[in-house]
Formats: sequence, C-alpha cells, structure tokens
Amino acid sequence: MNHKLGLGLLVLIAGLSACDKQASTTGAAGESTAGASASGEAIKFVKTQDGSPLEIKAELFDTPAAKEFLATGKNPYVGKEDAIAQGKKTFQLYSCTQCHGPDAGGQVGPALTGPNYNYAKDATNKGMFETVWNGTNGGMGAKGKGLMDPSDPNNGISPDELLKVIAWIRSHGSLTGNEEAAS
Ligand code: HEC
Repeated sequence: MNHKLGLGLLVLIAGLSACDKQASTTGAAGESTAGASASGEAIKFVKTQDGSPLEIKAELFDTPAAKEFLATGKNPYVGKEDAIAQGKKTFQLYSCTQCHGPDAGGQVGPALTGPNYNYAKDATNKGMFETVWNGTNGGMGAKGKGLMDPSDPNNGISPDELLKVIAWIRSHGSLTGNEEAAS
C-alpha cells in the first residue's frame, strides 16, 4: 500500500514537472488556458441588477488573459504594470473618470477602491466585471461591447480592456479581487 502510494507520488511528480516544461515553452501563447475554455470550462456570469444569467459571447474573450478569466474568474492583469497603465487610459477614454474621479476615489459616482461596495460582489473581479459590463439599477448604464449603444455592435469596452481597467482600479485599492475566485 505504502509502496504503491510512493510510486504513485513519483509518477505524479514526474508528470507535473513534464507539464512545467511544456508550460514554459508554450505558456507565453496561453495555449494551456485556451485549452481549458475550449473544453467547455467557463464561469457563469449573472446580472448585477437581478442575479439573472448574463450571456456574453465566448468569442469576445479573445486574448490569453481574457480566456483565463473566462475559465477561472481570476483577473491575470492584477498587479501587472503594463496592463494597469493601459487600464488607466481606457478608464479615461470611457469617461469613467468623469463619474468616479481620476483615481477612482469617487465623484458623482461612488469610490471604486473598496473594500466596501454598493454591490458586495464588486470585491471580486468577476463581480466587478459583471457590474461594469451590464450596468446597475442605480444609475450606471452597461459598458460592455455592443451594450453601450445597441445600434452599434462595435461600441463599448471589450473583456480584455475591462480586465485591464479593473486591474487599474485594484491598484488603487486594498483588494486584488482574486482572493475569492469564482467557483
Ligand atoms: C455617468 C456617470 C458614470 C460613468 C461614466 C461610469 N459610472 Fe460607474 N457608476 C456610476 C454610478 C452613479 C454608480 C452607482 C450605481 C448604483 O449604485 O447602482 C456606479 C457604479 C459603479 C460600480 C459599482 C460600485 C459599487 O460600489 O459596487 C463600478 C465597479 C463602476 N461604476 C465602474 C465604472 C467603470 C469602470 C466605468 C467606465 C467604464 C464607469 N463606472 C463609468 C456612474 C458612472
């Protein structure tokens, strides 16, 4: 019994380190995460307004980071300087600044830095994604691609851009939003 267990562990460890090697050669292209979502593994989004299902086309998740988010609910851009810098620009471009302030500390709209939110789920990156994508009941319209102006399917923020915006918001707050990944 013990012997078998030991052997099993060895095999497992050997397998894991083989995976590691593969990941380091192919990982940059994000193939491992693409594989995860291609196999149908995906988080389920819900509307912040009423908790009902929120459908977002899988093909909009068109970068390795966006695919990883779709599979795990974690935002890989949190803590990444380049992504945070791009997120800041998008935050300005989409006028988030006008309502939430240049440092997301609040203006007409509430502060986004947490840890307390109007919608408690915004403490998670999945929750904040849903809130911004589809809007709220209390004064904020949907910002997601195709939703900001229904007459133009190309308007609005893409999932990849929104993850960078959220990474920028998190860089001003005390939460990473990845602590409690979606199950
Ligand atoms: C026209 C003003 C306006 C703009 C532009 C705007 N918001 Fe908002 N936002 C609001 C208001 C008002 C609320 C509060 C809504 C509520 O409580 O239902 C809010 C709520 C939020 C919340 C939820 C906060 C909480 O406490 O749970 C998030 C996250 C958010 N906005 C992010 C964004 C981002 C990101 C952008 C840019 C893509 C943006 N907002 C653009 C006005 C705005």
